[in-house]
Amino acid sequence: MSGEDSIVLRANNVYGEYIVSPTTSIKAVNDVSIELRRNEIIGIAGESGCGKSTLIKILYGYISYPLTARGRVLLNNKGNSIDVLSVSEDYKRENIWWGVVSYIPQNSMNVLNPFMRIGDHFSELLRKHLKIEKDEAYKIAEEYIVDMGMRKDILKAFPHQLSGGMRQRIVVALALLLKPSIVFADEPTTAVDVVLQKVLLHFLMDKQRELRNALTIVTHDMGVHAMVTQRIVVMYAGRVVEERTYRASF
Ligand SMILES: Nc1ncnc2c1ncn2[C@@H]1O[C@H](COP(=O)(O)OP(=O)(O)OP(=O)(O)O)[C@@H](O)[C@H]1O
Ligand SMILES: [Mg+2]
Repeated sequence: MSGEDSIVLRANNVYGEYIVSPTTSIKAVNDVSIELRRNEIIGIAGESGCGKSTLIKILYGYISYPLTARGRVLLNNKGNSIDVLSVSEDYKRENIWWGVVSYIPQNSMNVLNPFMRIGDHFSELLRKHLKIEKDEAYKIAEEYIVDMGMRKDILKAFPHQLSGGMRQRIVVALALLLKPSIVFADEPTTAVDVVLQKVLLHFLMDKQRELRNALTIVTHDMGVHAMVTQRIVVMYAGRVVEERTYRASF
């Protein structure tokens, strides 16, 4: 698909700054404009500190102190255009995050709630978004986890009982659970071994193919980009300095 109607998110002239003192701030993202299209895997590359994670946070609309952002990030949600930088966080929690747009943060193996069993992470999300009972949600979670190639008894574990790699897999599975139309994955394979890297990438790619969503992968690993991305955006010092299309969307 190509053309205007395939654009699921359009960021216009966005800036991101971290406030480090009352008089100083660090410009992390500097006048970036970018479009994400349905059924496309886009890669964001660039050296450490160039602003990749900050850009992802802005596109997701996750702006918390000390980060400040300005510009427009228009999300096309079922024909409605929503500026994720101007709606409230409550609105995003209710209507956008997880269900429409999901985000796998950098070092995400540590984002699970240590006091919640893995199964409850899944069933809570399902209950909240699908308005279903706990038993039904748990059943869906069991089927889903098996479908994702994991054993269902993993749902009974607490995060600390799992390896870092397994936690990472859980976070990726959670991000894909509600079939979002946009997925942001920030270095999803950095802290894991080569075997798990492949598993996670296939996981993301298979789901992307199934959902035909827009998948954005941030990594400085050019091997990963060569393997999965269709379009690559290279950042340097807060700006997009290069954009290349590798292969057409399938
Ligand atoms: N919480 C923060 N407070 C102050 N400065 C920050 C903060 N987070 C990031 N920065 C700064 O913003 C700039 C961009 O950081 P960002 O994390 O977006 O880079 P990155 O490209 O994701 O790097 P990496 O490849 O290491 O993950 C850097 O100069 C960084 O030091
Ligand atoms: Mg980063």
